[in-house]
Amino acid sequence: MEKVVSLCKRRGFIFPGSEIYGGLTGTWDYGPAGALLKKNIKDEWWRAIVEKRDDMVGVDAAIMMNPKAWEASGHVEAFTDPLVECKLCHSRIRADKPEEIETHEKSHKKEKVVWTEPRKFNLLVKAYLGVVEGEQLEIFLRGEITNGVHVNFKNVLSSTRVRIPFGIAQIGKAFRNEITPGNFTFRSREFEQMETQFYIKPDEKEGKKWFEYWKKERMEWYLKLGVKKENLRFKDHAPDERAHYAKAATDIEYQSPFGWAEFMGIHHRGDWDLSRHEKFSGVDMKYHDPDTKEVYTPWDIETSAGVDRSLLFFLIDAYAKEGERVVLKLHPKLAPYKAAVFPLLANKPQLVELARKIYGDLRKNFMVAWDERGNIGKRYYAQDEIGTPYCITVDFDSLEKGDVTVRDRDTAKQERIAIKELEDFLKKKLSGS
Ligand code: GAP
Repeated sequence: MEKVVSLCKRRGFIFPGSEIYGGLTGTWDYGPAGALLKKNIKDEWWRAIVEKRDDMVGVDAAIMMNPKAWEASGHVEAFTDPLVECKLCHSRIRADKPEEIETHEKSHKKEKVVWTEPRKFNLLVKAYLGVVEGEQLEIFLRGEITNGVHVNFKNVLSSTRVRIPFGIAQIGKAFRNEITPGNFTFRSREFEQMETQFYIKPDEKEGKKWFEYWKKERMEWYLKLGVKKENLRFKDHAPDERAHYAKAATDIEYQSPFGWAEFMGIHHRGDWDLSRHEKFSGVDMKYHDPDTKEVYTPWDIETSAGVDRSLLFFLIDAYAKEGERVVLKLHPKLAPYKAAVFPLLANKPQLVELARKIYGDLRKNFMVAWDERGNIGKRYYAQDEIGTPYCITVDFDSLEKGDVTVRDRDTAKQERIAIKELEDFLKKKLSGS
């Protein structure tokens, strides 16, 4: 884990938030390579979930909502974690995380830790809106991105041609006042989620069918993007572990350096959200089937993945040390840069000119890096560390024969490819799934 954290800082994936001011616990900033990786993860997700399906549409709802929405969804009352306080040093820790309790008790060495009784701590982050001091409206930054989808259920129905079963997808920031942020970005106070709310007929058989469907579909997505099978598993929630809205819940877990940990969740939310929003808003949130004329409150099968957690686990899974070489074996679709272009020697204008031309042509369609510092070995090393799948070197033969050396990140093998074939070569490598 330390190696991954250090690589993230060194190569511009992830920096501590507001670092020059001593940081802000539970916040992280993505650097140039990290921002590209994050965007690629979200783009791949959106393509698979929205663009390639007929039964899904996307929305992008506001982060700030009328606070009644959070009462309706049960978050004001029940979006809590159990908190205990150490009577010796007043540290606050989650009572449901035995490993954190144990670590804390060990840190006091000989003194015996006494804990307060657990109390419910609400995770919603408050903010204040309005221009008149004392009359400001207290609102919540969204603790999950879900509410913005459910409150638009009727708007989506009336503005599109969707029919049940169908889903609404969204990607966006969420905020939680986590008691103990930690394990790098794994538990942060500001993070991003990618979610689908899939509305179905309220029927046990339908519920089971779609719950199983989405479990399988989501697992396959991570496998297709190269996460090792042995590092993934499903973990069902026991009834007392489920969130207040869930009838059933399963996590996809990743075998991380800090143990099996939740990657994402699949939740059977029943009619919890739509019926509560109907009750609190007074607006009819039922589905009126235009064909059968049935009227019902649909059930919702939700998939909810953390963008930051996905990124962290993709990074950990891709990290490899081969001899002296550190290489990130990211799926080419996720890799920040698809290729890097180098002139063999930076002080030979003809090489630089041709390399620049190739770089300029390729970047019309792909994210491509340019490097002319140091020697070729160092440049390969730097690109391996950020997971660039192909390095293209322009040498003296290129000037005469019109071809270049293409070096494969994973095998370190090199082949000569005609310059005019480069675009097709990259397209082929990046196509599929
Ligand atoms: N809408 C359902 C929901 O939010 P959740 O299990 O609380 O369910 C879903 O969160 C996903 O969001 C998690 O599996 C995780 O990937 C991500 N997530 C939740 N809390 C997080 C945190 N504090 N930091 C980073 N990611 C988090």
